[in-house]
Amino acid sequence: MKILVTGGAGYIASHTNLELLNAGYEVVAIDNFSNSSMESIRRVEKLTGKKIHFYEADILDKEALTDIFSRESIQAVIHFAGLKAVGESCEIPLKYFKNNLSGTITLLEVMQEFGVKNLAFSSSATVYGDPATVPVTEEFPLSVTNPYGRTKLMIEDMLRDLFQSDPSWNIAILRYFNPIGAHESGEIGEDPNGIPNNLVPYIAKVASGALDKIHIFGNDYDTPDGTGVRDYIHVVDLALGHIKAIEKLQENPGLVTYNLGTGVGYSVMDIIHNYEKACGKKLPYVIDPRRPGDIAVTYADPTKARKELGWTAERGIDKMCEDTYRWQSKNPNGYRNL
Ligand code: NAD
Ligand code: UD1
Repeated sequence: MKILVTGGAGYIASHTNLELLNAGYEVVAIDNFSNSSMESIRRVEKLTGKKIHFYEADILDKEALTDIFSRESIQAVIHFAGLKAVGESCEIPLKYFKNNLSGTITLLEVMQEFGVKNLAFSSSATVYGDPATVPVTEEFPLSVTNPYGRTKLMIEDMLRDLFQSDPSWNIAILRYFNPIGAHESGEIGEDPNGIPNNLVPYIAKVASGALDKIHIFGNDYDTPDGTGVRDYIHVVDLALGHIKAIEKLQENPGLVTYNLGTGVGYSVMDIIHNYEKACGKKLPYVIDPRRPGDIAVTYADPTKARKELGWTAERGIDKMCEDTYRWQSKNPNGYRNL
């Protein structure tokens, strides 16, 4: 079975490509390299000994998409392509709306023209806004606080409307919590441009000496140690969740929505301590003010994915930190140190 992976050179996609190939799927990938490089594709090919049919193209380019769908007999699409930096989305919202919304509309139009109606979409726990209680189930009310989050919620709404109009679509909306970690080979991992915005990539840079200290954004939240609590999930577990979602789409489920998280919350301090264990040294930190838009606590109720997909996250926080550390140590400059 042939799967088109959009944003196929990115962080989560590279781990998913590897699991797809290992599970016997054929992978067609498209990326415009706005936040990635060809190197992740090469490394996945090397790790699996299999080829990815790769196209350097933009999902906004309808002609290019049409050409790919004409050449390859695609049966399902995993749609990762998108811009994801919350801060940048507040500064340049139109760039986010154009890329994420217009890109998705173009992709859906071409899928419809070719009668390919199986889709897994990368949504985010950000669509739950500041949840009133935890753990968060799929039934919680949806709200967003920034343009990036709004693109995710608008795409979800678009998919629900599309399904309403044509129930022959099979759509899995996957709401990721906080993906971290790397493949245990240390060959593929997260490679952010510039100074990282997210906690674990930042900690990794401090541990490697590229940045001098961790900035903890607030220690006065209503949490056990005052720092923010999140549901960190190993990227390989997340990738395996996509394999389960693709299997589910083959049962003609209609439109389904799943949280992909572990169900366990860790604080910023917990993550720092676990990373210290992984890298074997103390990491300097300072307490800064809260980051605007941050919430105190969120973590998933992953029961629905367990029951309906037969999927559970299995890798714990130690492994998430150890694997991040291995990737960072082997690739201090990500994919650029060649
Ligand atoms: P990533 O930036 O590593 O991957 C996204 C890929 O899409 C990149 O390779 C980028 O070059 C490509 N891309 C962007 N716009 C494109 C376009 N118009 N045409 C073709 N390619 C394009 O990010 P990631 O962390 O792997 O995230 C993948 C998806 O999961 C994104 O949609 C993101 O919003 C979503 N998500 C990520 C997280 C997270 O914490 N990483 C959490 C929730 C949801
Ligand atoms: C962020 C995004 C979210 C997106 C997710 C995955 C924001 C406000 N939210 O989630 O929309 O879906 O990434 O890409 O950007 N922290 C520090 N110091 C740092 C960085 C983070 O203390 O240098 C803290 C944060 O306050 C938070 C936790 O670490 O409590 C996790 O932060 P981060 O990794 O940025 O993820 P989220 O904010 O949960």
